[in-house]
Amino acid sequence: MSDRYLEFANSPLGKSIATALGLPAAPRLRRAKSGYAARPLADRAVLLGGGSHGELAASLLTALDGAGATVQIVPSHPGLPPIKHAAAAAGVTLKTEPGAEERNSAAYALVFDATGVNGPSGLRELYDFCQPRVGRIPGNGRVLLLSRAPAENKDAAAHAASQALRGFVRSLAKEVGKKGITVNLLEVGGDADGLLAGPLRFFLSEHSAFITGQVLPLGAPFAPAKALKEFEAPLAGKVAVVTGAARGIGAAIAATLAREGAQVVGIDRPQEEGVLGQTLAAFNGLGLPLDITAADAPARIAEELERRFGGADIVVHNAGITRDKMLKNMPAHFWDQVLDVNFGAILRINEKLLSGGLKDGGRLVCISSIGGIGGNAGQTNYGSTKAGVIGYVEALAAEMARRGGAINAVAPGFIETQMTAAMPAVPREVGRRLSSLGQGGLPIDIAEAVTFFASAHAAAVNGRTLRVCGQNFFGA
Ligand SMILES: NC(=O)c1ccc[n+]([C@@H]2O[C@H](COP(=O)([O-])OP(=O)(O)OC[C@H]3O[C@@H](n4cnc5c(N)ncnc54)[C@H](O)[C@@H]3O)[C@@H](O)[C@H]2O)c1
Repeated sequence: MSDRYLEFANSPLGKSIATALGLPAAPRLRRAKSGYAARPLADRAVLLGGGSHGELAASLLTALDGAGATVQIVPSHPGLPPIKHAAAAAGVTLKTEPGAEERNSAAYALVFDATGVNGPSGLRELYDFCQPRVGRIPGNGRVLLLSRAPAENKDAAAHAASQALRGFVRSLAKEVGKKGITVNLLEVGGDADGLLAGPLRFFLSEHSAFITGQVLPLGAPFAPAKALKEFEAPLAGKVAVVTGAARGIGAAIAATLAREGAQVVGIDRPQEEGVLGQTLAAFNGLGLPLDITAADAPARIAEELERRFGGADIVVHNAGITRDKMLKNMPAHFWDQVLDVNFGAILRINEKLLSGGLKDGGRLVCISSIGGIGGNAGQTNYGSTKAGVIGYVEALAAEMARRGGAINAVAPGFIETQMTAAMPAVPREVGRRLSSLGQGGLPIDIAEAVTFFASAHAAAVNGRTLRVCGQNFFGA
């Protein structure tokens, strides 16, 4: 669906009119044009810093160097000694940050190791690092912080400081979003220190263009995971099932999983068989036209997967519907339909697949919504299902980890699809514009997050829900 204001605000005349009238900025986001690369940051400089008690210097340096980044440093700051030590041990050359006048060489991303920030003085170190530099980050740049989760800290001040970092990230994301810059926080569990390469590549690359202001915990409960060695085509040899694959977000998910090497099985309602076939033909996907709420759907899916492939590696529960009405006016069939497609069918299909049809080590990804986090008037049915999905992935994570796999959810914000094109004009425009990035996302944005969760790049992520919403102010 087209966003005319985005086009207008990025035309030379539109830009000056929008600035003069104080209209919202809607930067043109730079999205990945191809699949995962071996060295995605090859032509990029990343400025690496940390607090005086930072614990991740070695892991961060290895991950950044492996991704091909030129690692810049601030010549004197509290986090420098461990970075220099790690660089000497790993044989990585560090570059001193360019002077303020050399704008063209300014780092594309700031990465700050905030583990060990345990009170106001540590937060001051973060300020000292970011404050003079944030204005120099180019459009579509990145800010990424790493910390320990608040609950991992032993004393109250450290717990509070970790929580403070969440507020910092959410606030800075609102300041820099108008330049298409994203700001996110990875909360690294002690057992995930060696697994930073995948998340770092994702959050520092153009695969995460519409994700900002988010906190993603890495670590237990998750399957025992090895550090990544191969980064390209992470889904080669995998079989991935996507429900609701004929169009919209599901079609983008199917194409993106295929881009990374997966054999895709796409499911959609029988009346969509033709569209499903056209969508899947582009990447040799296999179509399975069925209604996921049909009584025999779980058995048919499991049998088909077993018979053709000996089971699936990835299942993405994307199919979803809305039937909006204020609760006082909502007929029972609106309630039942939404609950059945968005929630009941997922439970029934997974129950069947977990007893055959999903291989050990499998990945489940569910599509939630920010409507399940913040709620929306007229969506008690939809909001219940999308919140239920968040609870479901939390609850099933330990079981998936025991099987060597993982389950996570992606919560889209406003995404340009037929679902949102059908909204009344005013709420649609408000939904688009009221976000840090000033626009709706595209189906590919959700597909990129799903693909990350489906791959070994997200080895340390289990039971989590990631919002992909441009930090939409609804659902906050
Ligand atoms: N578009 C957004 O802004 C947005 C925001 C938040 C969450 N989501 C979620 O993302 C997912 C995809 O949304 P979309 O915007 O692409 O929707 P869409 O309506 O464009 O596509 C949904 C697809 O699911 C299929 N489907 C519906 N019921 C089915 C059933 N019973 N069996 C098999 N297939 C079925 C449809 O035929 C369709 O192809 C949904 O779960 C939705 O709730 C979307």
